[in-house]
Amino acid sequence: MQKIPTNSSSPAKTELPLDLTGPHITAGASAAHRLYQALCETIVSGLIKPGELLPPSRALAKQTGFRRNAVVTAYERLIADGLADATVGSGTFVAARIPARAAEPNKPKVVVEMPGQGAFALGCTHIDERAVQRFRAFVGRRMRAFGAEHLHYGDPRGSGELRAAIADHLLSARGLRCDPDQIMLTSGTLHALRIVLSAILRSNDQVWCEDPGYPAARTTIAHCGYRAVPVPVDEHGICVANGRIAAPSARAAYVTPSHQFPLGVQMSMSRRLELLDWARQAGAFVLEDDYDSEFRYDGAPLMSLAGIDRLQRVIYLGTFAKTLFPGLRIGYCALPERLIADVTAARAALDRFPGTLMEGAVADMLNSGAFAANLKRVRKLYREAREALAETLEAKSDRALSVPVPSQGLHLVARFDPSIDPSVAAQAKRAAGAEGWLLADTYSRARPLPGFVLGFSGHAVPQLVASAERLARESRSALRAKSRAGRRA
Ligand SMILES: Cc1ncc(COP(=O)(O)O)c(C=O)c1O
Repeated sequence: MQKIPTNSSSPAKTELPLDLTGPHITAGASAAHRLYQALCETIVSGLIKPGELLPPSRALAKQTGFRRNAVVTAYERLIADGLADATVGSGTFVAARIPARAAEPNKPKVVVEMPGQGAFALGCTHIDERAVQRFRAFVGRRMRAFGAEHLHYGDPRGSGELRAAIADHLLSARGLRCDPDQIMLTSGTLHALRIVLSAILRSNDQVWCEDPGYPAARTTIAHCGYRAVPVPVDEHGICVANGRIAAPSARAAYVTPSHQFPLGVQMSMSRRLELLDWARQAGAFVLEDDYDSEFRYDGAPLMSLAGIDRLQRVIYLGTFAKTLFPGLRIGYCALPERLIADVTAARAALDRFPGTLMEGAVADMLNSGAFAANLKRVRKLYREAREALAETLEAKSDRALSVPVPSQGLHLVARFDPSIDPSVAAQAKRAAGAEGWLLADTYSRARPLPGFVLGFSGHAVPQLVASAERLARESRSALRAKSRAGRRA
């Protein structure tokens, strides 16, 4: 016989506070299920207390208009879940102890920061309607041909078809010759970084990171339990000599050689060779993040670092986030032969293998020429946006800002004179309501240069010009305010 709760002598409530329509109710579910959900909600939210007697099934049927059978079924489920107890002849009670939610204090609200789309926001891209149409058609065709054979567990590196298309693209666009076997599909650059590092490093190992550099990569490296060692960047790229002093036994270096993020420096050939020499001597690997090389506006790009190295010590990281759509979440890495087995095992241990549905359609985009056509259209838009932004900032800031025009990429850097306090940039950005970044936010240890990192891709030119005028104006006035305060002090 079940134990009767202590306050079982209290009379049953004649009417229960029940919400039969709220978000906790599954629309279209059976009456018994909806009643069960409403009872659960009432009990766990504390509207009826532990040990209290529930109304007889007949009474609850009358209150709710449901059949008595439905009430009995709902009560049985409550008992099975441990939310209620029943004793023959005494009725059904709320359990003496019920699961935690009822006793929980107000839960803190979870705030999820979403990437913005406001003035100069980085990471915005132009989603071209023609590209979307082609992609939709390819997905449709693939979907119609989708069979059981596509729904099994698959290769941890992803679809062979897309890997072959990427190998062709890398050879023609980046001078990187590799076999499709060396390519692994990932859900973007940071995912690739995480998988590769987990295969080549042990926890607490050091990784050289450019300073200033890409904050998200530093965060990923730290999240994985490795130590990001900031290494300064000069006009040739990462300062290998400083890296050798700061962390001679680092096991890896994460770099953006084609277009240093954020400064835009192209790593010189002598620095590339120096970096590769270090990697060979130290038995380390270089992770080349080639995030924006497809957006080259002036002159031909240098061959990728991985191309120069012939994928010996360099691991190449690429993404379709900019060249197609960020929402695809498809990126890839190209691996030295000697790492294929370990990186594949690391991938299998992390999340087995990538989903298959979209990969075929991305291969179709590459193989049909739709990818190249999209790039051509989008590159033209971004070139115009880059020029409009750089010109407006230069012209309207009255020389307060210097704006080197980047030869590739989706953002530019606008700088105050290095003698200016970085707080001037922060003040101007706030006053202008701009969303881009402060240059200072990309630094770890080196002395930050005062200025901004401003995205121009995916922003309409008229808005970009208006925002640039505002930022230039606020930069001038923040500068004036600072020099007035300096004179008074
Ligand atoms: C330096 C750098 N690398 C890589 C990426 C792309 O990351 P993902 O492929 O994860 O979208 C970005 C995106 O803005 C970036 O700025």
